Amino acid sequence: MDLLIGTTNPGKLREYAALFGGLPVRLLSLHDAGLGSMDVEEPFDTFAENARHKAAEYARVSGLLALADDTGLVVDALDGRPGVYSKRYAGPGKTDAERCHVILSEMAAVPEKRRTARFVCVLAAVSADGAINETAYGAVEGQIGYTPGTGNQGFGYDAIFIPNGYPVPLSDIPFADKNNLSHRGAAARALLPALRRIVESN
Ligand code: IMP
Repeated sequence: MDLLIGTTNPGKLREYAALFGGLPVRLLSLHDAGLGSMDVEEPFDTFAENARHKAAEYARVSGLLALADDTGLVVDALDGRPGVYSKRYAGPGKTDAERCHVILSEMAAVPEKRRTARFVCVLAAVSADGAINETAYGAVEGQIGYTPGTGNQGFGYDAIFIPNGYPVPLSDIPFADKNNLSHRGAAARALLPALRRIVESN
């Protein structure tokens, strides 16, 4: 059975390849499925609706069981921003580093005890005919740092997010450890039993 990982983000792809590598399926990237240039919009204002919408679109176009997630950084002192708008925060065409810098600037006057934040991930698995429609949620709690991390382990907002219990941001934590503690790892582990059932019955 083929399982399409519906993302054009190389960081996510690498994480999902590790998280779902043990399933008896062939994991396909959008590129493998000939859909390398397909990027689905996120038109809704909840993570779950966007994740389901993206997975359904990738499934419809490919004819395969497709996985997609919607992920965001929820910062308490910014009233939950960037949240569901994490991808477009601070305007189109910005780099990850520029978006991190905008958040650090907005947080400049916020004291340590009010710098709480979390990464949220909703992961959806949808089949082409819509008969399979599973979602799972994962989150990791932490704090926004004062300066970006210097490591190159992650992507997106990893450089400014320090998970609780760790001295450094996610960008400075080894890849295997990120999958063990992260929002995406938690969502993937929560989805795994349903995915196993689906794979075994096909
Ligand atoms: P989306 O889920 O692809 O819409 O991603 C939303 C935004 O969050 C993008 O700017 C991503 O780079 C960022 N993002 C998604 N997943 C992660 C992650 O695991 N760590 C840090 N940033 C992430």
